[in-house]
Amino acid sequence: MQKNEFISLMERYKQVHIIEHLRTLSSEDERDFLNNVSDMNFELTFSLHERFSSENQRPIKYEKIEPPEVIDLETADREQKDTILNTGEKTIAEGKTAVTIVAGGQGTRLGYPHPKGMYPVSPIKGKSLFQINSEKILALSLRYNVKIPFLVMVNPENRKEIEGFFRKNRFFGLEKENLFFFTQEMLPSITPDRKLVLKDRTSLLSNPDGHGGSLKALWQSGLIKKIEDLGVTKVFYCHIDNPIVKVDDPLFLGWHIREKANFSLKVVRKRYSGEKVGNFVLADGKPRIIEYIELPDELRDRKDSRGKPVFWAGSIGIHFINTAFIKKINSNGFALPYHRQVKKAPEGISPEVKEIWKFETFIFDALPLAGKVCCLETLREEEFAPLKNSEGEDSPREVQKAMLNFYRKQMSDRGIDVAEGVKVEISPLANLEKMNLPSIITEDTYIE
Ligand code: UD1
Repeated sequence: MQKNEFISLMERYKQVHIIEHLRTLSSEDERDFLNNVSDMNFELTFSLHERFSSENQRPIKYEKIEPPEVIDLETADREQKDTILNTGEKTIAEGKTAVTIVAGGQGTRLGYPHPKGMYPVSPIKGKSLFQINSEKILALSLRYNVKIPFLVMVNPENRKEIEGFFRKNRFFGLEKENLFFFTQEMLPSITPDRKLVLKDRTSLLSNPDGHGGSLKALWQSGLIKKIEDLGVTKVFYCHIDNPIVKVDDPLFLGWHIREKANFSLKVVRKRYSGEKVGNFVLADGKPRIIEYIELPDELRDRKDSRGKPVFWAGSIGIHFINTAFIKKINSNGFALPYHRQVKKAPEGISPEVKEIWKFETFIFDALPLAGKVCCLETLREEEFAPLKNSEGEDSPREVQKAMLNFYRKQMSDRGIDVAEGVKVEISPLANLEKMNLPSIITEDTYIE
């Protein structure tokens, strides 16, 4: 951004302290500063600040919250499942799908000093989340003999490191021309009394615009147009943190198509009523995800006449989204609402700042806009082991345990015994059907 342009922007929003700070910088620091703020959407932050400061910006209250319709795969009959699976497989083989993984989060809770996707999570080989997911896509494209565009969302702060990591690892075997990095928007954080905050001498405190920003960035980067030109009509979406996700799952895709959905999701049964996942509900007749902190306790703990939880469906951040729907969401400005997160000011900034506001969008706010949605129930042990925290629930230790159980189950499904305490890791590229595996595994084994 040009200096004059930035100063007049700051004058317009009465950010005198920032203009004064700029005056104290050497020409080199000034260049860095202007470079660092060039990707930030100041207008949006100030207009959101105004909106959230006004009286009527209270959390939305719904008249009626009910359990939504969820497809239970256990009750679908075999023949129906086979037909649906065939539809999904055929659609993938025809090159109509792309995969988006969002990796633009700041991963603060994990406390890992690099982007979360680089975390060496697999139990034997120490493969990173990026490697595991890339190999899943490679395996699918080999299996169906098709190009599957892989779209990785990054943020301006982690882009360089993530791209470098892929390059250093030769794109994990993927063809470079099928791999696209796209950058989400950064929004400056702001104090309740409308002041931008210095993070250090050459940058402002800011945050990526939430995973919902993927729908905006996919559109604005021109990637939707590009993949549509390649024949893609459906995008598989997931978070980077879940190493056992079934990427581009053909069965899920088959259901999405059968239900003529614009936006689909997978859910698992919550482990306990207050688990920190979004709750899939029907709110005033529309499908929505209500975050765990926003669901009233009475509903959270409600049981039916048989003593079973009524609101059991936890969202796991796995979707199929039609490209036409992404286009629609962007056709008249960006349609997803922004949420305000009120946070304690981070350490290392001016002690006068006690609290900051961050603005973010959530992908699942597309649900009530989607018209037709489809929700599948899946099993946690088969599909959900997110890496979120440094300790306790969803920590590396727990995730590795879940991965080992997941691989062990694949072995036992094939009649292979894995001795007690022995670790097995299976490469996403392993073709188990064509392999000659022993009937018992007695030492730690990597199957590739
Ligand atoms: C999120 C969902 C929750 C769901 C859970 C499943 C919210 C508010 N809640 O929780 O309903 O049950 O996942 O795991 O999202 N990301 C970006 N850019 C951003 C912010 C996040 O790319 O600006 C990415 C992260 O890199 C990560 C994913 O989005 O891959 C999830 O973000 P995270 O903050 O970990 O979500 P949770 O709050 O744990």
